[in-house]
Amino acid sequence: MKQATLHQLKVFEAAARHGSFTRAAEELFLTQPTVSMQVKQLTKAVGLPLFEQVGKRLYLTEAGKELFTTCRAIFEQLAQLEMTVADLKGLKQGQLRLAVITTAKYFVPRLLGPFCQRYPGIDISLQVTNHSGILERLTDNLDDLYVMSQVPEHLDVVFQPFLDNPLVVLAPANHPLANEKNISLSRLAEEPFIMREPGSGTRKAVQKLFAAHEISVEVKLELGSNEAIKQAIAGGLGLSVLSRHTLTPDGASSELTVLDVEHFPIHRNWYVVYPNGKQLSVVARTYLEYLLDAAKQFATS
Ligand code: PGA
Repeated sequence: MKQATLHQLKVFEAAARHGSFTRAAEELFLTQPTVSMQVKQLTKAVGLPLFEQVGKRLYLTEAGKELFTTCRAIFEQLAQLEMTVADLKGLKQGQLRLAVITTAKYFVPRLLGPFCQRYPGIDISLQVTNHSGILERLTDNLDDLYVMSQVPEHLDVVFQPFLDNPLVVLAPANHPLANEKNISLSRLAEEPFIMREPGSGTRKAVQKLFAAHEISVEVKLELGSNEAIKQAIAGGLGLSVLSRHTLTPDGASSELTVLDVEHFPIHRNWYVVYPNGKQLSVVARTYLEYLLDAAKQFATS
């Protein structure tokens, strides 16, 4: 059956429905020999006769009847697909799968509200994970769009920066260094440090800066969440480096302050990324445009 074409199935379906090659030819604007040739090739692909002629009439064989039922199902499915695609083009329904790094979770979900209101038929799934989690999802092609801070070098991707993601040194508001200017890295290294987990992009960026200046910090605590780190800083367990975007108007944020340390902030960007060659759905393309536009407004506000 792999040799069979959709065109042959269409010709066969018409011939079977009319019980006549001539009528099928008229319906499809083909010549009678063309219909007969298409059916002959399909018969060869199936490996059994599809029609039998008794007198002047054409009858379906057992195999012909089976194929006729299958054809109906196939054309029905195709019609459904056409409708779904038409709906998608009109953004009436569809799915949007996003995966974002932990720091972008402070920004991206807020934008989803207005988007969902504009397109209520779209279902959204949002995965929040660290840098290495995003890389895994990207490699497995699990989502439509990814938001991350570092474009993977070993993967073939399309990417676009859309917003700054400065990494800053955070301390409790009442910390002795809170009002100092241009604090040196070596002074910072005297403080206990809280670090993100291995696999975190934030951690990697911090380690890279310290390594470049041959600074080693005393890591008192390792935590896998920005929120937990904020609470730990507020609780006086140490200092840490996090994205400025983690500072939302919540309880922990108001107890924290950004220290003025040399070489900080570490300048990073958020990128929206997807695998090269991926066919973005209409929904994903629309969200992408919406995200870029919202980021522009956010940056100028
Ligand atoms: P992270 O993401 O959660 O992996 O630290 C932030 C980043 O990569 O900038």
